[in-house]
Amino acid sequence: MTPSAPRSRLASKLGLTDRIFAGPRSRRLLATVEAGLDQVDDRLREELRVADPIADATSRYLYEAGGKRVRPMLALLTAQLGEGTTDEVVQGATALEMTHLGSLYHDDVMDAADKRRGIPSAHAVWGNSIAILTGDLLFSRASQIMARHGDRAIRLQSDTFERLVLGQMHETVGPQEGDDPVEFYLQVLSDKTGSLIAAAAQAGVIFSGAPAEFEDPIFTFGDKAGVAFQLLDDVIDLSADPDETGKVPGTDLRAGVPTMPYLLLTRREDAASTALRVQIDEGVARIADGADPELLDEPLAALREHDATRATLDLAHAWSREAIDALDPIPDGPVREALTRFAQAVADRSS
Ligand code: IPE
Ligand code: IPE
Ligand code: MG
Ligand code: MG
Repeated sequence: MTPSAPRSRLASKLGLTDRIFAGPRSRRLLATVEAGLDQVDDRLREELRVADPIADATSRYLYEAGGKRVRPMLALLTAQLGEGTTDEVVQGATALEMTHLGSLYHDDVMDAADKRRGIPSAHAVWGNSIAILTGDLLFSRASQIMARHGDRAIRLQSDTFERLVLGQMHETVGPQEGDDPVEFYLQVLSDKTGSLIAAAAQAGVIFSGAPAEFEDPIFTFGDKAGVAFQLLDDVIDLSADPDETGKVPGTDLRAGVPTMPYLLLTRREDAASTALRVQIDEGVARIADGADPELLDEPLAALREHDATRATLDLAHAWSREAIDALDPIPDGPVREALTRFAQAVADRSS
């Protein structure tokens, strides 16, 4: 029998489920969403099957390592604004989680990340070409699933994927002359991460036949919650606890990928901040020349304690509040309550 991803780890990492479904009104909703997550997981396992044994092994690799399943959870939640967990909702959520999975294979190549979900990243095991091709395979599979559900589903998939790719590309090339680095970076976060989280929230509305007027507010909610989620990812990148995050601390910064704490540090002009920035820049340059990445351990610990990291957390909370404001047109009830808690939880997580 093929081993399945450990269900106990789904979404419950970061205590997400406990926090989102707190209170007696949410108990039924929690049971519904958890049952839906099991369906999505079964579906993922099925849809990941490839006749070619090598492709089969590489495609399952990161799926079997777990993951929080944040995007399917969101789709299942918003689906309860319509007819609930329909087969279309399950398939839409599966396709979007598969797109997320494919993007992780590619992202780890781009960020030269050694670990993902607590295990060596795919390129560390099979090399860049196989990791990239596996990501491509997952994107094809995701499109195949969406293609079963007509034009609206295909457009959701292609528009979302285009935005994700452009977000990754803009992050890679960086701001151009005249761009404000922080504004530019916030747009990158919205595109690379908000896109898929917004699409998941939107998919729940579309595929459950919920009122069409919910689509825009739910999209805006997902996009802004996605920015808050990614701002926390930047703070988590500085975290000292790889056991909790399943990633190597400081991966992005060591590879010279600027994150929000670093960008906010560059805006500070006091002597200590300038010295820390110079230290990080010199470290990044030396690592690029082949020096041991550990030489940035101390400067990154200092950045974690710096006010710029606190300011990143404040920014995440502001985006989370904006996400919650976008829910205004959604009727009061357990779903809106859970979405509100979702936005609060993603801006206050440690893994
Ligand atoms: C990681 O996403 C990539 C980002 C967009 C930050 P998640 O933090 O949702 O990763 P998994 O699915 O739980 O591994
Ligand atoms: C990941 O962004 C975004 C996508 C995969 C599209 P990051 O590079 O910041 O995420 P982690 O920290 O590797 O998960
Ligand atoms: Mg990365
Ligand atoms: Mg990246």
